[in-house]
Amino acid sequence: QESPHIYSKEEVRSHSRPETGIWVTLGSEVFDVTEFVDLHPGGASKLMLAAGGPLEPFWALYAVHNQPHVRELLAQYKIGELHPEDTTPSTLETSNPYADDPVRHPALKVNSQRPFNAEPPPELLTENYITPNPLFFTRNHLPVPNLDPDTYRLHVVGAPGGQSLCLSLDDLRKFPKHEVTVTLQCAGNRRSEMSQVKEVKGLEWNTGAISTARWAGARLCDVLVQAGHQLSEAEAHVCFEGLDSDPTGTAYGASIPLARALDPAADVLLAYEMNGEPLPRDHGFPVRVVVPGVVGARHVKWLGRVSVQPEESGSHWQRRDYKGFSPSVDWDTVDFDSAPSIQELPVQSAITEPRDGETVESGEVTVKGYAWSGGGRAVIRVDVSLDGGLTWQAAELYGEEQCPRKAWAWRLWQLQAPVPAGQKELHIVCKAVDESYNVQPDTVAPIWNLRGVLSNAWHRVHVRVAP
Ligand code: HEM
Ligand code: MTE
Repeated sequence: QESPHIYSKEEVRSHSRPETGIWVTLGSEVFDVTEFVDLHPGGASKLMLAAGGPLEPFWALYAVHNQPHVRELLAQYKIGELHPEDTTPSTLETSNPYADDPVRHPALKVNSQRPFNAEPPPELLTENYITPNPLFFTRNHLPVPNLDPDTYRLHVVGAPGGQSLCLSLDDLRKFPKHEVTVTLQCAGNRRSEMSQVKEVKGLEWNTGAISTARWAGARLCDVLVQAGHQLSEAEAHVCFEGLDSDPTGTAYGASIPLARALDPAADVLLAYEMNGEPLPRDHGFPVRVVVPGVVGARHVKWLGRVSVQPEESGSHWQRRDYKGFSPSVDWDTVDFDSAPSIQELPVQSAITEPRDGETVESGEVTVKGYAWSGGGRAVIRVDVSLDGGLTWQAAELYGEEQCPRKAWAWRLWQLQAPVPAGQKELHIVCKAVDESYNVQPDTVAPIWNLRGVLSNAWHRVHVRVAP
C-alpha cells in the first residue's frame, strides 16, 4: 500500500480559490473538493467559507454533516494527510456555538440538536387548540442569539424621502397593539413521508412541524408607513434579517411581497408576545415577524433589520431553499432560479390519534387531527375514511371559528365512528378541503421533490383492532 501524500497547512491554505482548486481538511485528512463546490446542497458560497482550511468550525455549526453519507461523500475526495505537526485536535478548534442555547421541554421529539429542531409528539399536538409555548415546534438554522431587551434595536430602512427608524422594544410597544391567532407550519412538515418514497435532503419531520399561538405586537404596515413606505414601489419585497448568524456574520434572512406587508387585512405582525408572554428565546425573543397564512420560513425570528427592495431577499433560504420542484428534478438538474419562493402553503391535514401501528379497541374508534390551509383559506371540511379511502365520513371541526379569506389558524377535528364488526384492521385516512375547494393529493409520489417540502398528501394510519 502506498503511503499517503503528506501536506502542510500552508499548502492546504494555498488552495482556496477556483484557480488553485479548493482543498479542505477534516481531522488529519486533506480533501480536494474542487469538483464538489457547485454540487454542495448548502450552496457553493457556504462551502467556500471553509476553503483552504478545516471544516470543523463550520460543521460544528451545521450538524447536518454529522451523518455517514456525508462522510462517505467527502472520503471520495481525499488526496492525503496533513503533516502531524499541523494537525490540531478538533476540540481545540471548535468552541461549541450552541452552548448558550436555551433549555427545552423534554416532550419534544428532537430531529436535530445543533441547530435545534424539534416537534411536539402527535398526541400532545392536538391536546390544545393553542399550542403551549414549551411545546411549540422549533425550527432553527443557527445558534439561538442571546439578546438584551434593553439594548435591542430594530432597524427599519426608510423609503426615499422617508425616514429610517431605529426602534427599541418600548418604541415598538407604542404602535397600536394587534393580536391574532396564527398557525405556523414549516415547509418541511411531514417530510418523513416523502423520504419513504425516495431520499430527500432535509430534517425528518413527522406531522408536528406545525403549531398555533396567539401572537401580539405592532402591525408591520404601521411601522412601514411610519418609515415612509407605500405601495407605489412596484413589485417590491420586504426583506427581513435575523440577528442569528454563522461565524462569517451571515444572518438568517427572508422576504415577503410588499403588498402583503402593507395590507392591514393581512395582519402581518412584528410580534413581541406569544400566548400572552414575551417570546421565548427559541421563538425569536424579543421580536419576530409573523406572516399569517405564509410558510414558516418567512416568519423571521430575532428580527434585526427590515428593508424594502426591488428584489426578494438574497438570502440562501429565500433563493436556494424553500422552493418546490417536479419529482423528476434532481440535484444535478435543479435550477433554483426557475421556481418561485414558497409563500402561501397548500391545504394540509393529518391524523394525530390513533398512532400508526397502534391497536385500537373494537366497538368504536376516535380519530383526531388538525387541518389548515395557507393564504387565509378556511378549512370547510375534513373527510375521514376507515377503509383506505373507499368510503368517507365528515369529521367534526372544533377550535376557533375562522373567517373566510382570513383563516389564519388551524381547526382541530375529531371523528367517533363504529368499527364494523369482525374488522381486524383499519386503514384510516384523512383529507381536508379549503374554501377554494383545494384538496390534498391522494399519494406522495407525484408531489415528491428533492428538498422534501410541501408534503400534504392524504395522511394514512394503519391500526389493528383488538379482538
Ligand atoms: C448541507 C456536504 C461544507 C453548510 C450539506 C449536505 C451535504 C454537505 C452532503 C446535505 C446533507 C443532508 O441534508 O443530508 C458538505 C461537504 C462539505 C461541506 C462535503 C465540505 C467539503 C460546508 C460548509 C458549510 C456548509 C463549510 C458552512 C459554512 C451547509 C448547509 C447545508 C449543508 C447550510 C444545508 C443544511 C440544511 O439542510 O438546511 N453539506 N458540506 N457545508 N451544508 Fe455542507
Ligand atoms: N428566523 C431566524 N432568524 N432564523 C431561523 O432559523 N427559521 C425559520 C423561521 N424564522 C428561522 C427563522 C423557519 S424555516 C421556520 S419554519 C420558523 O422560523 C419556525 O419558527 P418556530 O421555531 O418559532 O416554530
